[in-house]
Amino acid sequence: MVEPPTAPGETAKQTLFPKTMVSVSIRPANAADLSGINEIYAAAVRDTVTTWDYEPMSREQRAAWFAAHREQGLPVFVATDDADTVLGWGCLSRYNHRPGYRFTVENSIYVGRAHQGRGIGRRLLAVLIDTARELGMHSIVAAIDGENEASLRLHRAFGFEPAGRVREAGFKFDRWLDVAYLQLLL
Ligand SMILES: CC(C)(COP(=O)(O)OP(=O)(O)OC[C@H]1O[C@@H](n2cnc3c(N)ncnc32)[C@H](O)[C@@H]1OP(=O)(O)O)[C@@H](O)C(=O)NCCC(=O)NCCS
Repeated sequence: MVEPPTAPGETAKQTLFPKTMVSVSIRPANAADLSGINEIYAAAVRDTVTTWDYEPMSREQRAAWFAAHREQGLPVFVATDDADTVLGWGCLSRYNHRPGYRFTVENSIYVGRAHQGRGIGRRLLAVLIDTARELGMHSIVAAIDGENEASLRLHRAFGFEPAGRVREAGFKFDRWLDVAYLQLLL
């Protein structure tokens, strides 16, 4: 298992080399990051099957999403560059609203297309796993499009194991899509 570079919430600066010289920090998100978070998500909605949403989130929907995470004590992290531009984000969300599921969370990670493949997803996932442990969670579930090799490999690299596949559970861009569940017991 890959170790996180810093404790969760701590600002970590790391120069990503040699692909790019951009210095990336991971920190808890604040309200000023929501438009950056939304832009990255909107591109994934528009161009990919990595999320099965059909429409991007409005500013109001994103604000409500952020407030709900705060109320539930669940983290949202952003990866930012030196200018504090959001390059990627990740969060933990409730897996299911019923109380018996309260020790399981679902994780989400989205890195802007121009910044993918540079270790940002890995750093975000490391911090999310660490935070889930700190929160006393027992497991993390990732629901991943069955063809999303990048995300499948990223999660496997952190010890997530297959927890089932639901065939043709999704439909986007005129075709059926499988969802693969991966799980990490903490
Ligand atoms: C999936 C995603 C979060 C990975 O983040 P990233 O910053 O691009 O990935 P990293 O550079 O940290 O790479 C970490 C690992 O992921 C895997 N990976 C990343 N990009 C990959 C690609 N294009 N093809 C295959 N594996 C890939 C590799 O295992 C990689 O480790 P390695 O470099 O040691 O081989 C990112 O590509 C992304 O946001 N994609 C679109 C949205 C998405 O799919 N979100 C997840 C929804 S479940």
